[in-house]
Amino acid sequence: MSSRRKILTVFGTRPEAIKLFPLVHALAGDERFESRVCISAQHREMLDQVLAIAGVVPDHDLDLMTPGQTLDALTARALVEIGKVLDAERPDWVVVQGDTTTVMAGAIAAYYRQIPVCHVEAGLRSGDIHHPWPEEVNRRVVGSFAALHCAPTETARDALLRENVDPATVHVTGNTVIDALHWVTQRVGQDPGLASGLADLERRFAGKRIIGMTSHRRENFGEGMQNIANAVREIASRPDVAVIFPVHLNPNVRAVMNGQLAGLDNVALIEPLDYPHFARLLDISHLMLTDSGGVQEEAPALGKPVLVMRETTERPEGIEAGTAKLVGTDAASIVRETTRLLDDEAAYAAMARAHNPFGDGRAAARIAELLAHA
Ligand code: UD1
Ligand code: UDP
Repeated sequence: MSSRRKILTVFGTRPEAIKLFPLVHALAGDERFESRVCISAQHREMLDQVLAIAGVVPDHDLDLMTPGQTLDALTARALVEIGKVLDAERPDWVVVQGDTTTVMAGAIAAYYRQIPVCHVEAGLRSGDIHHPWPEEVNRRVVGSFAALHCAPTETARDALLRENVDPATVHVTGNTVIDALHWVTQRVGQDPGLASGLADLERRFAGKRIIGMTSHRRENFGEGMQNIANAVREIASRPDVAVIFPVHLNPNVRAVMNGQLAGLDNVALIEPLDYPHFARLLDISHLMLTDSGGVQEEAPALGKPVLVMRETTERPEGIEAGTAKLVGTDAASIVRETTRLLDDEAAYAAMARAHNPFGDGRAAARIAELLAHA
């Protein structure tokens, strides 16, 4: 009988894949573990982009994504289908990362079988169950019963301790997104062709300052997204800037953004970028406009100011350090803060400082060590 610990890593979306591939690599190269990977494929194309670059081949692909899927239908299918994989694999531990539907359903499926759950990126809290929605509740659910909480920062650890989580189960590991960013930077260093696909846009926008942009949050659907599009139209009317916006495949995002922003001279609406190209976009951008969680962590590491188009954030570290700023989803506020960064050199310099509150690039190794001894 094998004495190796069997770890089943479960994920479903682009950001989970980016933040878990460093751990999957670490587990695969460590003889103390028997590593298995299950993807719900809550995302399809955007997930496959990450698997391809990271060389991760899932043992189970549940292929759950349907166009325009609803929260309840996806949750129900994920719970049942991940449960079947757990019954077949009977792992010693289940690892999940973050706050998506797959994370919540995968963790509950494990709990129903009394399999301990390791929660990576534990303890993020905005304090508002409607922002981000439904992620704030997903992560609270997992945090209420995980056996191992890998908090990226001291702030996240403190949030868990305030909820009376057993301190012996909480560890500050750093965020694996920094491991992923280091890994991809090194890969592109070895093979620059992996990130050369933006060259045409770089030529088209030569001499302009590039604003890298992403937007996809469910709580912003409707008015919030419309406001964001209006703000971008106004910002892009300046001749000295260009907006590069890889548009999320969610049809609710595409309907608004393609409708409002297509055909503008200074806006490039492009398909979702694979991770090497998104890292390149971060690199060439003067600043980032985003409502993404992961981008709030990556941009400070690269010294890029981030304007966060949300009402709250569960990642206060960048705000506290002065490299990120919450601008909400009001068009006037987004335009005002962007204009300030473009026109006020001192304001820009104050935000454009590289710092790394989210980790040192060795989070995955720490988590593997915890799993080996837990
Ligand atoms: C999900 C997560 C969100 C995370 C985001 C990362 C939930 C509730 N939401 O939001 O926390 O920040 O992923 O991007 O778990 N689609 C495709 N191809 C893809 C991906 C999505 O066509 O590769 C389309 C499909 O029509 C799909 C829709 O987008 O039904 C929504 O996908 P879903 O995963 O439910 O929500 P996201 O908005 O992507
Ligand atoms: N990202 C990417 N290609 C894109 C946009 C984003 O690879 O076109 C990466 C980005 O670097 C970050 C992650 O995807 O690591 C963020 O994912 P997303 O914004 O979809 O989700 P969130 O982080 O908000 O949950």
